[in-house]
Amino acid sequence: MKRTAIITGASSGIGAAAASMFLDAGFAVINISRRPCPITGVTDLCGDLSNPKSVQELARTLSLQLAETQPSSVCLVHNAALMLKDTADSTDDSSLAKVLQINTLAINNLNRELLPLMPSGSSVLFVGSTLSEKAVKGAFSYVVSKHAQLGMMRATCQDLMGRGIHTALICPGFTDTEMLRNHIGQDQKIIEAISAMNSFGRLVEPEEIARLIFWSHSNPVINGAVLHGNLGQVEH
Ligand SMILES: NC(=O)c1ccc[n+]([C@@H]2O[C@H](COP(=O)([O-])OP(=O)(O)OC[C@H]3O[C@@H](n4cnc5c(N)ncnc54)[C@H](OP(=O)(O)O)[C@@H]3O)[C@@H](O)[C@H]2O)c1
Repeated sequence: MKRTAIITGASSGIGAAAASMFLDAGFAVINISRRPCPITGVTDLCGDLSNPKSVQELARTLSLQLAETQPSSVCLVHNAALMLKDTADSTDDSSLAKVLQINTLAINNLNRELLPLMPSGSSVLFVGSTLSEKAVKGAFSYVVSKHAQLGMMRATCQDLMGRGIHTALICPGFTDTEMLRNHIGQDQKIIEAISAMNSFGRLVEPEEIARLIFWSHSNPVINGAVLHGNLGQVEH
């Protein structure tokens, strides 16, 4: 009957920070990623979300676990994502398909299998991005997939009407994680430039987004909402 948090991509960054927070609050925490979660006490279900077969197996294993443990509530956090550098005039279908597989289809598969087993009081939280609602150049497939997550969250909210399960899209700004640092090539000048793009002159910490995720689970009043966590980003 223990409350359970299922978090994709808790091997690093925002997901790992969220896993730590749910664990401290007494949740059973399950991580889904290729590498294990570095936090002791988190159960790893290692798998590759870019592989539909692997996602199907993960979903099956998870649904058996939920059927057996019957948690009093489940927080399902769709956090894992792939970000490529690509553009609208050069992206081939296979690379767009890979991004959509991880960032949208894997979410759909997990939702389809797990939602029937999630009791009232559960939540489905999507970690989107500032780029769920706007675009920048050079991140075509990521922008497409993050906009799709906004639609998925809103449609899920409508389709779950009356079931006592709420949804939200949490949209981080520039957050100090592997994804950001890999994307900008660990370039300190770019870090300083993007840090200057908000009111506080710094990057968002993964724990700040984790707090938003954790808070969102226990506040169903936000059902269907988009929550931005970007320190007040400069609009261009
Ligand atoms: N950092 C930012 O500035 C920023 C801004 C806006 C939105 N976000 C969003 O925040 C979320 C978390 O990202 P992060 O910044 O915390 O980055 P991160 O530290 O790089 O974490 C990404 C996570 O996704 C997992 N993942 C990636 N590909 C996977 C695959 N094929 N199969 C399974 N797991 C996979 C990774 O696990 P493995 O490598 O172990 O598989 C890792 O745990 C993402 O949805 C991202 O779009 C981040």
